[in-house]
Amino acid sequence: MVTYSAPGKIFLFGEHAVVYGEPAIACAIDLRASVTAQKHSEVVITSKLGKGEGKHQYVSKAIKKMRELTELGGVRIVIDSKIPVGGGLGSSAAVTIATLAALNEEFGAGLNKEEIAGLGYSIEKEVQGAASPTDTYVSTMGGVVLIPAKKRLRNLDCEIVIGDTGKSSSTRGLVQQVRVLKDNHPEIIEPIFSSIGNLAKKCEVLVEKGDCNAVGELMNVNQGLLESLGVGCAELSALVYAARGAGAIGAKLTGAGGGGCMVALADKMYVEGVASAIESAGGTPIKSKITETGVRRE
Ligand code: MEV
Repeated sequence: MVTYSAPGKIFLFGEHAVVYGEPAIACAIDLRASVTAQKHSEVVITSKLGKGEGKHQYVSKAIKKMRELTELGGVRIVIDSKIPVGGGLGSSAAVTIATLAALNEEFGAGLNKEEIAGLGYSIEKEVQGAASPTDTYVSTMGGVVLIPAKKRLRNLDCEIVIGDTGKSSSTRGLVQQVRVLKDNHPEIIEPIFSSIGNLAKKCEVLVEKGDCNAVGELMNVNQGLLESLGVGCAELSALVYAARGAGAIGAKLTGAGGGGCMVALADKMYVEGVASAIESAGGTPIKSKITETGVRRE
């Protein structure tokens, strides 16, 4: 029996555009999902969502992928995640990566971290229809990462406050919705993707310099571009404006949007104020930190 955990993530820049190959910057955060795998006579998957393969599409695909690589009969999988489900914080990627790592050890498949991240990405693509390698790579490796270059950047020395709207959304549905918008108006939407990519490119330098003020300012620009792609919603905007009003340097939605979570960057002295403003605006604040630690054995 073995347990692995993997972190969730936030996007500083680049969600949606990254699906079309534009650069993005994402950070692993200190909310983790743990997965225990134990050889068993049949396949049993349990989490707070309930029991069964139907409720755990990513885990069930992870087992199938591992079966192609090593001898795997039955397995008992127990999932314990602190990452809100469907909240844009990469909970499915964290569960997928922790599952793959646990199965890798329990069944001696001999995969390295790069291979685990790659397998996780192929699972996300199959379940979501389209996906970028962001969530799975960041969850595997930890830290602040520029995608698709997979370049590790310096950790930003400022506080992160997440606001959960409590409204769950479907990444698959939102990715499809953006694709339809792009197919209907490519001459309008493709330049928006490029602008989002340019924000990530510019911020690679700003993150390396540790310039939180400029990063925050450009996160606000990224939020405007995400709104123009139609992935914002009233609940997210309420939390974004509340956080900015309470002194956040920058605030934007994170992940697929349409609900889920927003993320604010704040100086230490504003963290409590930003958290209570998010709460007063109807959200659940989560004070978080960037973590260097990707998938690890517990
Ligand atoms: C989801 O966390 C982020 C999207 O860009 C999809 C992806 O990158 O796979 C919307």
